[in-house]
Amino acid sequence: MSSTSRYADSHRRSLQDPAGFWAEVAEAIHWDRRWDEVLDDSAAPMYRWFAGGRLNTCYNALDRHVEGGRADQPALIYDSPLTGTVASFSYRELRDRVALLAGALQQQGVKAGDRVVIYMPMVPEAVMAMLACARIGAVHSVVFGGFAAPELAKRIDDAAPVLVVSASCGIEPGRVIAYKPLLDHALELAAHKVKRCIVLQRPQCLATLVAGRDVEWNAALAGVKPAPCVSVAATDPLYILYTSGTTGKPKGVVRDNGGHAVALYYSMQAVFDARPGEVYWAASDVGWVVGHSYIVYGPLLRGCTTILYEGKPVGTPDAGAFWRVIAQHGVSTFFTAPTAFRAIKKEDPRGELIGGYDLSRFRALYLAGERCDPDTIHWAQDKLKVPVVDHWWQTETGWPVAANCRGIQELPVKPGSASVPVPGYDVQVLDNDGHPVPADTIGNIVIKLPLPPGTLATMWHNEAGYREHYLTRYPGYYLSGDAGYLDGDGYVWIMSRIDDIINVAGHRLSTGAMEEVLAAHPDVAECAVIGVADQLKGQLPLGLVVLKAGVQRPHEDIVQELVGRVREQIGAVACFKQAVVVQRLPKTRSGKVLRSTMRSIADSQPYNAPATIDDPKALDEIGSALKGLGYALGNL
Ligand code: COA
Ligand code: AMP
Repeated sequence: MSSTSRYADSHRRSLQDPAGFWAEVAEAIHWDRRWDEVLDDSAAPMYRWFAGGRLNTCYNALDRHVEGGRADQPALIYDSPLTGTVASFSYRELRDRVALLAGALQQQGVKAGDRVVIYMPMVPEAVMAMLACARIGAVHSVVFGGFAAPELAKRIDDAAPVLVVSASCGIEPGRVIAYKPLLDHALELAAHKVKRCIVLQRPQCLATLVAGRDVEWNAALAGVKPAPCVSVAATDPLYILYTSGTTGKPKGVVRDNGGHAVALYYSMQAVFDARPGEVYWAASDVGWVVGHSYIVYGPLLRGCTTILYEGKPVGTPDAGAFWRVIAQHGVSTFFTAPTAFRAIKKEDPRGELIGGYDLSRFRALYLAGERCDPDTIHWAQDKLKVPVVDHWWQTETGWPVAANCRGIQELPVKPGSASVPVPGYDVQVLDNDGHPVPADTIGNIVIKLPLPPGTLATMWHNEAGYREHYLTRYPGYYLSGDAGYLDGDGYVWIMSRIDDIINVAGHRLSTGAMEEVLAAHPDVAECAVIGVADQLKGQLPLGLVVLKAGVQRPHEDIVQELVGRVREQIGAVACFKQAVVVQRLPKTRSGKVLRSTMRSIADSQPYNAPATIDDPKALDEIGSALKGLGYALGNL
């Protein structure tokens, strides 16, 4: 790529003069008070963007557009094949509904700075709850509905909310999932006591309310006055979003208000080339970062129409579901995870269902959340005839780190690469000793500090944890946790994680958390969970367990119990369905379990047993056990 291209100029400028660059972008946001300093580095490596500035994120997402001529434009379209509903809310309607809910939150005692946990399925009220919190300066923490009660309890204990907003149920194909019993159980498990819950009753399953604690949604709104926007500091937290770390304790990523609004606005324009008034759709869930950034805040900050889709890529009703939504609502930009495309490709390999829909307004497809295999990219390019953009980012960064920035300049696509660093990000690759590696050499992907606006400010009530996990290994750099390389043209290639995090259907999960559940089973002496390759979901977890001496029970029974325990304690979303009993785990002489070697064996990849291995025969035993499950079948 030419070093004088529009993209290269923009990227260079963002790194040479970050304050000037971001101050210019920030002009697009409405500030109640302008910042004193664009980048406050006085406490480096803890940086603060737009220090001294004041704004309200909800005002920028809704009221500003109502006042600026978009009052009647749809802001949110709810499309739910699972309930047979399509509903549209204009910017005015959404602003009014959010203001009323914000008033209800205040009436229940929620104040600026208080935390509110939102445990909801994909219904418009979930989006309203997020924006209502933003409106009154409360800090929301959305917990994905597929997590079980103990995971919800962990997040309640960490965030210590004054109130929980929930719904009676979620709907998955073929079954209704009662959320309220999960919420009740989580509240029992949590040490932190929540005084108030607002519960949306969905007709598919009514919840039993706990007198004195639970308030039904409409009852909470009755007689309430709409709340105005509360001005907050740019550096005040907007939300906490928990994400999987290497242990069972999730990390509470904190996002500020000012940097977030500026960065998301910028990404909608520069990365996604989404124009105000257009329809933008991210098929994700509000419980994930993609949902926060690109179902809720990004599209609304930009004045787009956003779509909230309660359905799946296949089976609701068929593999043409995405094309139906794109055609029906005139979607111009669509974002999903590669897994969804693999699911569609499996059911409709020739893409025959696409032809039945008018996709004339569809301009580009964006894929992220996991590594995108080149086959999937080629299939999507071939069948949809629009640019397909693989882009890389994380819950922590909140918006894309590497992408083909079509709003600046469309660059040639290299399937398998997430394209180039987005302006604002100085992406580098370091070896284990912290030295930069030459082009095309795999190493640890890091981002030179300061990170741009909109990235994690810290971990909730745990600055030490933030420093330890992300900033300590390479002083002056943010450790992404991904391994990969930069090629000679500056393209970023993400290859794998450097830790025990796995990616299942675009969902980030901790094998450490699953190991904690297995290890607590009374018959288990020790265990390991590894992520094995799966054609549809990218990876699937697989447990290897060693039983305590003298345990005589049938292995199938124990495996069944382990599968049940992970489902009950972490949730169905973990997709933990396979485990095998082994005699021992392969380890180094110092006792480190050789997880990555086992993963290579399972995936039939070449591997070198470390010289420090305790007993090489343990690897052969693992190979045989994995063959019994249908893995490790290739040439080793
Ligand atoms: N509440 C309760 N349970 C949920 C849930 C929710 N919000 N979301 C998922 N689950 C359950 C599912 O019902 C399933 O349960 P099961 O084991 O009883 O079948 C389990 O969690 C796994 O769900 P999922 O990974 O969605 O698998 P699936 O087999 O139902 O669907 C795909 C497969 C590929 C269609 C699906 O994974 C998909 O759409 N992936 C796209 C990924 C995505 O959007 N990622 C977001 C990041 S961009
Ligand atoms: P999450 O925080 O859940 O969004 O997960 C972030 C992780 O998903 C990253 O650290 C990567 O491991 C992986 N990931 C996300 N996008 C991509 C991509 N485009 N290519 C490869 N891996 C990706």
